[in-house]
Amino acid sequence: MNLFVANWKMNMTRAQARAYAEELGSRIGDGSDGAELVLAPPFTAIEAARDPRGRWSLGAQNLSEHAAGAFTGEVSGAMIAEAGCRYVIVGHSERRTLFGEDGPLLSRKLARAREAGLVPIYCVGETPRERAAGSTAAVLARQVEALGDDPTDRPIVVAYEPVWAIGTGLAATPADSASAAADLRELLSPRRDLRVLYGGSVNPGNARQLLASGGVDGFLVGGASLEAATFAAIAGAAIA
Ligand code: PGA
Repeated sequence: MNLFVANWKMNMTRAQARAYAEELGSRIGDGSDGAELVLAPPFTAIEAARDPRGRWSLGAQNLSEHAAGAFTGEVSGAMIAEAGCRYVIVGHSERRTLFGEDGPLLSRKLARAREAGLVPIYCVGETPRERAAGSTAAVLARQVEALGDDPTDRPIVVAYEPVWAIGTGLAATPADSASAAADLRELLSPRRDLRVLYGGSVNPGNARQLLASGGVDGFLVGGASLEAATFAAIAGAAIA
């Protein structure tokens, strides 16, 4: 089933999340046939974004590399799972570039996610400079090394998010997406339950084409997920 994840980033108070959930619920009615929807709010709005009818599930945007203890300001996988999340985003490019998260750290976060029973949404993608140098495939191969110790018999979601496409309005072409998705499926071929997403300036106008020819199972959506109507329209592209 196609998977659509709304990455709200550092947006949405609890009140805004409640209003969004109400709007999304009214847009999708009895459910979104053929599409699995996930909202990834800030930690504080996870509970407010919950759907009592279970038409979408929840994800966190980050987790601690530690299980518990004296780590002021951190949030553990167990806390996230207990708050009602099924998923957790690991290795988003903003975490990599703004917060210096690298492969070894991300491996530890993946392990904590598994211990908590969370399904990781592991993000990869090349920078503009890496793309210009023609090293996209090498970058993806290096970034998936963080999954080396992750059990291959568990479900995993890998999001191809080229850094140059995130928040720029310049989405990858379906051909770019298809090429990266094929590389990722090859790199992760022992895995039986792998879904590959595309992320980076997805909107209702490009969603259908990217889904039809981009070689992916859905999207990780940032800016365009901040309006429930727009997020529902993107998911609607799959069902159409
Ligand atoms: P964008 O962000 O849709 O705003 O480009 C995607 C992401 O960062 O996951």
